[in-house]
Amino acid sequence: MKKAVYPGSFDPVTYGHIDVITRAAKMFDVLTVSVLDNKRKQALFSVDERVRMLKEALKDLPNVEVESFSGLLVDYCASKDIHVIIRGLRAITDFEYELQNAQTNRLISNGKVDTVFLTTSLEYAYLSSSAVKEIACFKGDVSPCVPKFVADAVYDKYKDDSRGIL
Ligand code: PNS
Repeated sequence: MKKAVYPGSFDPVTYGHIDVITRAAKMFDVLTVSVLDNKRKQALFSVDERVRMLKEALKDLPNVEVESFSGLLVDYCASKDIHVIIRGLRAITDFEYELQNAQTNRLISNGKVDTVFLTTSLEYAYLSSSAVKEIACFKGDVSPCVPKFVADAVYDKYKDDSRGIL
């Protein structure tokens, strides 16, 4: 059984994530999409909300499951007997951070966990969850970036103008 994990913050899920997930799901028997429960980083959506949005966005992909994790990614991989991490590379600006994470994860897992990079489709090369939040915060149109139900959820978070989280 070929398994992989696609970890991330997904605050919120974008078409860029969905593109990478759809393509990775074709390469593995089971793909686990896992939301990092990061107590040190303030997010717009709770982990439960992010998991729920991902499940809705990915409901037509039968071999994709959605979970959350905390702590080290390599420990989570070990607990699920997963040896492959999927990450998307958008532009050269992602490269250094991703290379560092990939090398470190391989090192601290004693070579058991490797990272496979998928280049994002060109139309999503500059798309990010942060950009979606910033556009929505100023009432811009996020429909090219996220599914409608995600857009509605983001606008809803900013509707009283009191949320400063981008
Ligand atoms: O969507 P993001 O925020 O770019 O995802 C980053 C993520 C979740 C992949 C990364 O922060 C992570 O794996 N965090 C878990 C903690 C960990 O294992 N850190 C060591 C990596 S060097």
